[in-house]
Amino acid sequence: MQTAIIGTGQIGEGIAKKIVKAGHSVLLTNNKGAASLKEKATNLGKLAIPADLKDIVKADVIFLTVRWSHLKQVAKDVPNLQGKILVDVTNPILDDMSYDDLKGKAASEIVQNLFPKTRLVKTLNHYFLKWIDADPKVDDGKRVAFVSGNDIEAKNTVANLLKEFEFKPIDLGDIATGSKLQQAGGALAALNIVSYPA
Ligand SMILES: NC(=O)c1ccc[n+]([C@@H]2O[C@H](COP(=O)([O-])OP(=O)(O)OC[C@H]3O[C@@H](n4cnc5c(N)ncnc54)[C@H](OP(=O)(O)O)[C@@H]3O)[C@@H](O)[C@H]2O)c1
Repeated sequence: MQTAIIGTGQIGEGIAKKIVKAGHSVLLTNNKGAASLKEKATNLGKLAIPADLKDIVKADVIFLTVRWSHLKQVAKDVPNLQGKILVDVTNPILDDMSYDDLKGKAASEIVQNLFPKTRLVKTLNHYFLKWIDADPKVDDGKRVAFVSGNDIEAKNTVANLLKEFEFKPIDLGDIATGSKLQQAGGALAALNIVSYPA
């Protein structure tokens, strides 16, 4: 599976590590361009490839890991992503660390409107970086990763990828209801949950 990261900062790099460990290729992008990502890519290994935003059309699954304040610009900059699976890992947190006023909408509904032709799945945004970076296997249990989305096939693809990362995916339903629970300020946000065998 070809994957890509839009915004290889803290979270993007953390997810890229999981992708590479699972044996998939990942295109790394950021705002500064491919040349600035060479060292990061080298550290991640041969499956990580520095790229420019125009190159992400080669990916089937694209992780969106930019700050909330940068989303509108990114939406203008990306190539045509029609039909691509867009994995929304963002949270509606402004640069002064306050929550954006979403007027009752789910954050991912806003992201979906900015990237209208994509098949959006929300996941991993509910964890701080340390829980994304950590080994998801805890004793004989697995750390839970919530998934929300309206496109069942896209959600299954992301859930299977999360299983390859060794998380236990839990489906919260659609974007309007499920993703609200996992976004910053939601009932399930920031909880470090491990599922153990019965
Ligand atoms: N940090 C956490 O614990 C955490 C946990 C869960 C979710 N999140 C969410 O994850 C998202 C990313 O957070 P972060 O802490 O990883 O942020 P970050 O370290 O600041 O990384 C953001 C990345 O976005 C890139 N970027 C900015 N504008 C861009 C553009 N126009 N095109 C392409 N790339 C662009 C930046 O590129 P440059 O490097 O070139 O500037 C940078 O690589 C946020 O929405 C945050 O709320 C964060």
